[in-house]
Order: sequence, then C-alpha cells, then structure tokens
Amino acid sequence: MKTLLNISVAALILAGGAYLYAEDDYEEHEHRSSSVVAKPMTKQDKTTMALYQKECGACHIAYQPEFLPKRSWDKTMNTLDSHFGTNASLDPADHKTIQNYLATHASRNDRMTGMGGEIAMRISETPNFKREHREVAQKMVTQAEVKSFANCAACHTKAASGSYREREIRIPNYGSWE
Ligand code: HEC
Ligand code: HEC
Repeated sequence: MKTLLNISVAALILAGGAYLYAEDDYEEHEHRSSSVVAKPMTKQDKTTMALYQKECGACHIAYQPEFLPKRSWDKTMNTLDSHFGTNASLDPADHKTIQNYLATHASRNDRMTGMGGEIAMRISETPNFKREHREVAQKMVTQAEVKSFANCAACHTKAASGSYREREIRIPNYGSWE
C-alpha cells in the first residue's frame, strides 16, 4: 500500500498534478494516478498549466485544482472581479481555458466541499483541510511571516510544485513539523 502510494505520488508530481492528503489517500487518487502514468501531459496541457500558473499564481501559489470541487472553482471563476478584495479578472479566452482546466482536475471528493452545504471559496475552509491542520496553533498562522492559511507556501516549502509532504514543512519561527 505504502509503495503504491509513493509511486502514484511521484507520477502525479511528474505529470504536474498534486500530492495532497497522504493518510487517507482515497481511491480517487489511485485511479487518477494510473491514468496519469498511462497518459503523459500533452503540449496543450503544458500550455494550459503555464497559463494557470501565470494568471492564478501572481498573488499566491496557483492552488492545485484537486483541493476544491468543480462548483467551488466555478463560483471563484464567476466572481473574479471581486476576488478576496482584489480584481483578478481575465480576458474571455484565458478565462475559459482556466475554468475548463480547474473543472477537469477538480476534486470529486465530498470532503473537499464546504461546511453545511455551502460552496467553499477557500481550500482552508474545507473539512479535509481543517482536519489536517487541527494541530497547527493559531499563532503560527497569524504571525507576520504567514498571515493566513491561504499562504500555503509559507509553511509548505514545495507547495507551488504540488507537494505537501510532512518532511517539507518549515513553519517560520518554529521550524520543521516532524
Ligand atoms: C490580484 C491578486 C490575485 C490574483 C491574480 C488571484 N488571486 Fe486568488 N486570492 C487573492 C487574495 C488577496 C486572496 C486571499 C488571501 C488571504 O486570505 O490571505 C486569494 C485567495 C484565493 C483562494 C482561497 C485560498 C484559501 O484557501 O484560503 C483561492 C481558491 C483563490 N484565491 C483562487 C484564485 C484563482 C483560481 C485565481 C486565478 C483565476 C486567483 N486566485 C488569482 C488574490 C489574487
Ligand atoms: C502555518 C503553516 C501552514 C500553512 C499556512 C498551511 N499548512 Fe498545510 N500543514 C501544516 C502542518 C504543520 C501540517 C501537518 C499537520 C499534522 O500532521 O498534524 C500540514 C498538513 C497539510 C496537508 C497534509 C499533508 C499530509 O502528508 O497528509 C496538506 C495536503 C496541506 N497541509 C495543504 C495545505 C494547503 C493547500 C495550504 C494552503 C491553502 C496549507 N496547507 C497551508 C502547516 C501549514
């Protein structure tokens, strides 16, 4: 099981996918990773990823689409002109490409959805995220070097490349987690 997990993780990262929750790596991931191995990224996929990184990675990391379900991404994409106090609007062609990209890679897992049937706009508000971070003290998050849970890369040194392994965590002023 462990080996299988590691292989699928490596494949996901190579393919530009994400290594997300380890402990309960649900079936969906294994299915996805096997199809990823069989089907490498096309040139078109790479262009789309680069566009996503550029447009949605300018103010924070380009969050991996696997962290939210399609309806969350749709809501985000439909409200970009008032995006967490900023305007993140895109031209129509890029908007369409990115919305499709997010929909294609979105989570199909219910635990990625918001609490109480709400459409989660934040990864950090999903039940899965809260459960994984329940032991992270508030003061580690609110400190100036981090500011909020949205700043994944402040603690997860390889977040931008889609890797969230525990050994890669460095919390500013607190150090590694292990
Ligand atoms: C002009 C800057 C800017 C751009 C461009 C931008 N965002 Fe954001 N985004 C923000 C800010 C500011 C926040 C709130 C950060 C915080 O709470 O600390 C945010 C938060 C988010 C969050 C919630 C993170 C969490 O879990 O708390 C998601 C999801 C998100 N953005 C997706 C996107 C997507 C998708 C795009 C591209 C279409 C994008 N953003 C482009 C500024 C931007
Ligand atoms: C203040 C530092 C901090 C921030 C900011 C943060 N995390 Fe974490 N994250 C942690 C710590 C610490 C753990 C390990 C918790 C544990 O094992 O109890 C963790 C665990 C995880 C895990 C599980 C890893 C595994 O091996 O199971 C994932 C996935 C994850 N975080 C994603 C994110 C994402 C996505 C964001 C941004 C939206 C984020 N984190 C923001 C500190 C942070």
